[in-house]
Formats: sequence, C-alpha cells, structure tokens
Amino acid sequence: MSALSELNKEIALCQQCEIAKYRTKVVPGEGAEDADILFIGEAPGWHEDQQGRPFVGPAGQYLDQLLSSIGLRREQVYIANVIKCRPQGNRDPLPSEILNCRKWLERQIELICPKMVVTLGRYSMAMFFPGKSISKIHGTSQKRGDVIYYAMYHPAAALHQQSLRRAIEEDMLKIPQLLTKAESMTETDKQPKQLNMFKD
Ligand code: URA
Repeated sequence: MSALSELNKEIALCQQCEIAKYRTKVVPGEGAEDADILFIGEAPGWHEDQQGRPFVGPAGQYLDQLLSSIGLRREQVYIANVIKCRPQGNRDPLPSEILNCRKWLERQIELICPKMVVTLGRYSMAMFFPGKSISKIHGTSQKRGDVIYYAMYHPAAALHQQSLRRAIEEDMLKIPQLLTKAESMTETDKQPKQLNMFKD
C-alpha cells in the first residue's frame, strides 16, 4: 500500500474533533498520487459524507466540468479538503477543526508533491494566502519554492452567482499555461519547498 493510502487510512480513523461523532464517512481525498495539480476545497458536504469521496455533489459535477474545460479528468489531479469531516448542517468549519486537520493536509502535500496547489474558496485560500481577500486574488498565483499556489473561487459559490461563474471559468483556463511556465517562473517568496507553506 502506498504511503498516501496509509495516510488516508489513518485520516479515516481520526476522532480528534467533535464532528467525528456525526460523520457518516471521512473524506480524506482522492486522485492521482503523483498529480501535478492538487485542488483543495473547504469541507465535505452531504454527498461527500455519504460516499467518503470529495466533490461528488453538484459542486463536484461543476468541478468536473471545469477540469474538462482544460482537458483534465478528476483522476489526473488530486482533490482534497481543508477539513476531512462534514460539519453538521453544512456550517462553516471551526478554527479548531481547521487546526486539527491541518497536519493531514500538510502530510498529503508532502507525499503528493504537486507542482501546483489550487485553493477553492476562502477557507482553503486562507491557509496559503493569509489575510488576502478572494475577490482580489482569485486568478493570481505565487511561486514558493518549487510550488505554484493559485487561488480560485469555490465551485459551489460560482454555481449560485453568475458573475463568479464567469470568473471561475476564466481562472480555470489559466491553469495549463501556468503549469507550463512553472519551471521558469520567478519565486515570489523565497521559502524552501514544503516548509512554512502555511505561514505568512
Ligand atoms: N465542497 C467542498 O469544499 N468540498 C467537497 O468535497 C464538496 C463540496
């Protein structure tokens, strides 16, 4: 079994937060273990909690469409979330839940070693672009170490708001070129690869 599968099994046993009591299934993440692109959403919703898979409800179907607009299938990328259990009633994740779950995401990133981390929505953005506003930085990237960090709106938000829909679709179309340019991009921020990636 791969190190990532072992890790995801460990995640599935986590009982650190109160929400563990209410979950149907943990949603560690899924996709290509050597993916170039890691997409990080917020938290599982009802459908994800039922199936134990990320982005399988309406927002997930839209994410699939967005991926297909750049010639990708979900099996070719990795998809994970900031927190791995569904907050009851789809409430926002609590700071304590984000903190408890952070170590899982950090280890997933270390193992996948993506060239690009795409944040979907505010919670995911806040981990990599602290203090920034999504309306200002969506569609922009920063290279730190060997990794490009790229902020996008959450597909669920874009599904419900026409103006965001256009933005998320345009932002998605920028990804292939960014990946191609990845090697030649200047580092925005001189941080060693994988270290301090969650810090200011
Ligand atoms: N929204 C998310 O942020 N993650 C999912 O997995 C599904 C919906």
